[in-house]
Amino acid sequence: MNIQQALEQADYDLSDASPSATLDAQVLLTHVLHCNTAHLLAWPEKQLNKEQTTNFLRLVKQRQSGKPVAHLTGLREFWSLDFFVNDSTLIPRPDTETLIEFVLNKFNSDQPYKLIDMGTGTGAIAISIAKEKPDWSITASDVSFDALDLAKKNSKHHHTDNISFTQSNWFENINANDFDIIISNPPYIAENDPHLQQGDVRFEPQSALTSGVVGMDDIIHLCQHAKNYLTSGGYLIVEHGYNQNQLVLDCFTNNGFTLIEQSRDLSGHIRMTAGKV
Ligand SMILES: C[S@@+](CC[C@H](N)C(=O)[O-])C[C@H]1O[C@@H](n2cnc3c(N)ncnc32)[C@H](O)[C@@H]1O
Repeated sequence: MNIQQALEQADYDLSDASPSATLDAQVLLTHVLHCNTAHLLAWPEKQLNKEQTTNFLRLVKQRQSGKPVAHLTGLREFWSLDFFVNDSTLIPRPDTETLIEFVLNKFNSDQPYKLIDMGTGTGAIAISIAKEKPDWSITASDVSFDALDLAKKNSKHHHTDNISFTQSNWFENINANDFDIIISNPPYIAENDPHLQQGDVRFEPQSALTSGVVGMDDIIHLCQHAKNYLTSGGYLIVEHGYNQNQLVLDCFTNNGFTLIEQSRDLSGHIRMTAGKV
């Protein structure tokens, strides 16, 4: 089998199982061949050896059964950086880049801010900001030791030496009045949301996804307690669901935040809320 035949066959085999069959096939084949997509396009006639063929067909079969591409390759790109991923936490999503853009636009002075990324998971938010702002002092926290190990591995991979890691159930092990910015992409899916039975989320831990009956429990907790951990004038910034913008706005308002701003994701949905104490 050559590269073109492998891609065509996988595209066909994945068409029912995945909304992105062509891309999935390319990503899996680049993973097996240790090459980039340009190589696949440049050398369509190149033959796969027996081991490469076996490995590729095995991955396609796993993808057919629903396993996320990122779990098959162990990697996902976020903010143009490669992150190791595993089943201890969420696979980073492009929508979360909205939070990074907001932070970089809003806090664009030379001041070395102190920021905490709560529920850091792979460390995607903390590490992306740490790369952009090497002078900032960044803390990354998560309740999951396994997720923290993964975030530390990613931090080491990206040589970010301005991040410290803390295991904490939200604010439990965090010092009061210490941060200029608290940022979080917390769990925010409703427990019985039917989307939990579809796509990649079936393979991600509930602890990273769900938050009570309407998905608001963790966001409410963050809103209620953040002011005790922010410096005067500090900001809380959270990601939330596309249908939670009014609930989150009310939550920020009821907890005394001012200058509240909301941002849209790449699909035009309001997915981020920020407010000042
Ligand atoms: C939606 S994932 C976000 C992961 C990562 N920040 C990202 O944007 O890709 C939520 C994360 O919150 C963590 N989490 C859940 N409950 C928590 C709690 N009580 N305290 C701290 N972190 C928690 C989960 O372990 C998970 O890593």
